[in-house]
Amino acid sequence: MSDFAPVRELIKDVPGWLSDEEGEALYELAKRCTGEGVIVEIGSWKGKSTICLGLGSRAGSGVQVFAVDPHADHRHGEFKQNIERAGIADLVTPVKGMSQEVVGEFDQPIELLFVDGSHEEEDVRHDFDTWVPKVVDGGAVAFHDTTWHTGVRRVVAQRIYASRQFRDVRFVIGSTTVARKVFENTARDRLHARRVQATKRVFGAVTSVLKKKRGWLPGPVERVGRRMFNLVGR
Ligand SMILES: C[S@@+](CC[C@H](N)C(=O)[O-])C[C@H]1O[C@@H](n2cnc3c(N)ncnc32)[C@H](O)[C@@H]1O
Repeated sequence: MSDFAPVRELIKDVPGWLSDEEGEALYELAKRCTGEGVIVEIGSWKGKSTICLGLGSRAGSGVQVFAVDPHADHRHGEFKQNIERAGIADLVTPVKGMSQEVVGEFDQPIELLFVDGSHEEEDVRHDFDTWVPKVVDGGAVAFHDTTWHTGVRRVVAQRIYASRQFRDVRFVIGSTTVARKVFENTARDRLHARRVQATKRVFGAVTSVLKKKRGWLPGPVERVGRRMFNLVGR
């Protein structure tokens, strides 16, 4: 049983694009971190995902969370207030700057990497190629917006779904791809990744049409989709 319910309550008024499922997945991933490396988030905005990572870490081993973002309004801004309100200011270190600028100086091993910064294909590929090498073997990566954003979708298709470097690939409804980094995966892992990708494609195609037509998914479709992904997407 997940202990995410109080976190869901806490983030419900924080603006952002994370679904509850995605927030819970980040929370659980952070909770599982042992301290072999730190947690890094690229793209924090108002701190919705940072709160999930920070409180997950608090429920686990208290691993430090580094939140990389220009943090334009950090001094008096909502990010700071939201982090303080969640009681995780001691666990979260804001790293002010663009991911491309700060990556060279970041010299700690990473146990969990969450990427939700620039969604331009070139930038996402750069983030992947510069940050993922810092993730320890057995560590986790999570990319947001891998359904409807072409650039992110293309990068994870090449670098995760078709890769020999990841196992336990899963898709969290609505748009997050999660995977565990390994030295070399097996044929079975690759088959699993392809199956998840195919399911994600169907989800992406159906939801794109419905989103265009109706603005967002009708409730019953969303509920069936969620159930389907609980069975298939994990
Ligand atoms: C989609 S928002 C992040 C939302 C946040 N993860 C959440 O769940 O609420 C994207 C954020 O990434 C930041 N950003 C954009 N490009 C970036 C880059 N290259 N490096 C770091 N942050 C970046 C933006 O300033 C913005 O705050």
